[in-house]
Amino acid sequence: MNKNKTALITGSGKRIGASISRAFHSRGYNIIAHFNSSSEEIESLEEELNKKRKGSCITFQANFFEEESIERFIEDILKQTNRLDVLVNNASTFFPKKLSESSAEDLNNLYQTNTFVPFFLIKAFETLLKESNGSVVNLSDAMVKGGIKEYSLYTAAKSSLESLTKSLAKELGPEIRVNAVAPGIILWPEDEELSEESKDKLIEKTALRRIGSPEDIANAVLTVHELSYMTGQILNVDGGREH
Ligand SMILES: NC(=O)c1ccc[n+]([C@@H]2O[C@H](COP(=O)([O-])OP(=O)(O)OC[C@H]3O[C@@H](n4cnc5c(N)ncnc54)[C@H](OP(=O)(O)O)[C@@H]3O)[C@@H](O)[C@H]2O)c1
Repeated sequence: MNKNKTALITGSGKRIGASISRAFHSRGYNIIAHFNSSSEEIESLEEELNKKRKGSCITFQANFFEEESIERFIEDILKQTNRLDVLVNNASTFFPKKLSESSAEDLNNLYQTNTFVPFFLIKAFETLLKESNGSVVNLSDAMVKGGIKEYSLYTAAKSSLESLTKSLAKELGPEIRVNAVAPGIILWPEDEELSEESKDKLIEKTALRRIGSPEDIANAVLTVHELSYMTGQILNVDGGREH
């Protein structure tokens, strides 16, 4: 890779992660794009970005449920780059679970992607981020503050990520800033069919009466990274949602 500023974005094959990658790329950043199963999508993103600027995007696969995979992912990245300006912890799992049906496996799943992996990636890339006076942007969720019925494990995991954001901001300053962006309704979940009525009800709760776009979140992540006097903050980008 060339000497440009570099952004590592997890879960960047599609949806919000792909938009975040495009936003940093159009600002001149090299992109280290992580994916797990979206191999076709990541190939086309890599091709699109490298067509615009040769050698500006590399991709790495890792399943965040496998320790070996995470270790290999970190080692491979450290072999390929000696510069990192921003780490965006975007990859996530999200599914409902009633209390009576929740298992330890569900708990591990949701905490693994939404809390533990972000923590270990920040730890792994601390030195590089320090050298660049870089930043971490974690993706939370604007709805965790008010709680979501039947999503207690997910909201607990995202709340922990917000807590990590605030505490690590204190620990890693002055060299590294740590912030989070908390999206509202942006893209409906892929694996869960919501009725049009339920969607309308959720939209009615926003002051702007519409859902946001992946580009809205990508711009917010880029802006948060560039706000050089802000750290330890959670920025809601939710169209003014009632909580
Ligand atoms: N969509 C919304 O409206 C919304 C609202 C509030 C908050 N958010 C937050 O914003 C972020 C992006 O949202 P999104 O809807 O675009 O996310 P998403 O599509 O649900 O997930 C993003 C990526 O996470 C990766 N991922 C899932 N399991 C993984 C695993 N075991 N190992 C490694 N990677 C894994 C997937 O990569 P592969 O596809 O490569 O497998 C997936 O593409 C998330 O943190 C989400 O919680 C989104």
